[in-house]
Amino acid sequence: MSNTIIVGAQWGDEGKGKVVDFLTSSADVVVRAQGGNNAGHTVICEGKKYILHLLPSGILWPGKTCVIGNGVALDPIGLVTEIETLERQGIAVRPEQLLISDRAHLTLPYHREIDGLREQSRGDQKIGTTRRGIGPTYADKANRTGFRMADTLDTERFLLALRERIAESNDLLTAAGMVPVDPGIVESVLAALARLRPHITNTMAFLHGAITEGRTLLFEGAQGTFLDIDHGTYPFVTSSNTTAGGACTGSGVPPNRIDRVIAVAKAYTTRVGTGPFPTENQDLGDHFHAMGREFGATTGRERRCGWLDLVLLRHAVMINGVDSLAVTNLDGLDQIDPIRICTHYELDGQRLELPPSTIAELERAVPVYETLPAWNTDISACRSWEDLPEAARRYIHRIESLLRVPVGLVSVGPDRNQTLLRDPRWTGLENPSIRVRPEELPAIA
Ligand code: GDP
Ligand code: IMO
Ligand code: MG
Repeated sequence: MSNTIIVGAQWGDEGKGKVVDFLTSSADVVVRAQGGNNAGHTVICEGKKYILHLLPSGILWPGKTCVIGNGVALDPIGLVTEIETLERQGIAVRPEQLLISDRAHLTLPYHREIDGLREQSRGDQKIGTTRRGIGPTYADKANRTGFRMADTLDTERFLLALRERIAESNDLLTAAGMVPVDPGIVESVLAALARLRPHITNTMAFLHGAITEGRTLLFEGAQGTFLDIDHGTYPFVTSSNTTAGGACTGSGVPPNRIDRVIAVAKAYTTRVGTGPFPTENQDLGDHFHAMGREFGATTGRERRCGWLDLVLLRHAVMINGVDSLAVTNLDGLDQIDPIRICTHYELDGQRLELPPSTIAELERAVPVYETLPAWNTDISACRSWEDLPEAARRYIHRIESLLRVPVGLVSVGPDRNQTLLRDPRWTGLENPSIRVRPEELPAIA
């Protein structure tokens, strides 16, 4: 029994869905605590592909409980579509398998439209949002004008307030020359809420009960550290706390009940949307896109690609309190020769080990690289740490050595079985008191 937070260490799409799915075999409850259906988490098992947006990845495992916490921006129409898609793929979503917080805020059709409007008005400064209405939902929450799931239970009252909000939003949209929201959409919202009603409950009470019973909890982060509203590359970020603390505020599970934080990082870096990206490299992007990889799971957009950036990871390790890393997509580097990693930046003659705070500085920062030996071998069939070629193990050792954090899990392909767990101690789900200490890590020059 232990409670583990899984976070993205980069700009999202690190493979969190795959890692959570893999670790769910040793967990009882999987919790989403922030973000909304801007997330797209891919899980592939036995050749079948699932893309999850709001549902925790644990939903693919029978007998596990999934929780959508109070911190999530919940689009009811989107969630019902997702449930129906999954049901068509043969996965049932019953009330006892999916609990939805009565405090979760709703993303409604006008939030999506306003998201589009805000993006349009930013011109060439646009964020490149997923247009899922995430920013406007969290803005309403902060403005104290949002709807929470519990507010929808009194249908008559909710309907009156909803109609009012649609009219207000339509004034805004029409004034900006945008298409207004069809007021008839309330019927679809109510139908979706009726489908979700049996799932709505006090999830905080459930989670505390589960902890008391000694059940194992996994918190599935959405987005990544550098999309965090406080710690990311603001304003090119999402609107929630994607870092470890968000798991607590977004679920009602306090920090002293958390045993471990695992951060997921790709073996290189990707980003969708606009904003600074110091190690971006067009050739790497072209290489991955030609292989059909690195396209967004939610919007299908091409992801921008670059070298692994240890300046970013150093920051991510600090602010998330990372105990262990999961490195995914190591196979992406199979044909890359030579392989580079960014160890620090240089800015105005200064050496930077951590990212600077402004966008202007981050854009001017010059990444400094070290070159590591390539392996030039297909590693996707490796099934244990020992199967990996020497150069691939060295690459992982070098990351551990520079960050002083153990890499507990390595992924060499998208399928559930293409996952190498180095040592159960390094993810610690069974026994959180057993840890690999930084001083046990080899120093690799
Ligand atoms: P998430 O948002 O963090 O869950 O990540 P996404 O699902 O958006 O993006 C990760 C992509 O990488 C998906 O297409 C996964 O199927 C894929 N993936 C995850 N791990 C690996 C890996 O080790 N190798 C390869 N080739 N693909 C991977
Ligand atoms: P997962 O959970 C990658 C990015 C968008 C945009 C910025 C703001 O799959 O890792 P938003 O719609 O949230 O207002 O967009 O954040 N973004 C993501 N990028 N993975 C995600 O989720 C993302 N969710 C949002 O591309 O740059
Ligand atoms: Mg994703």
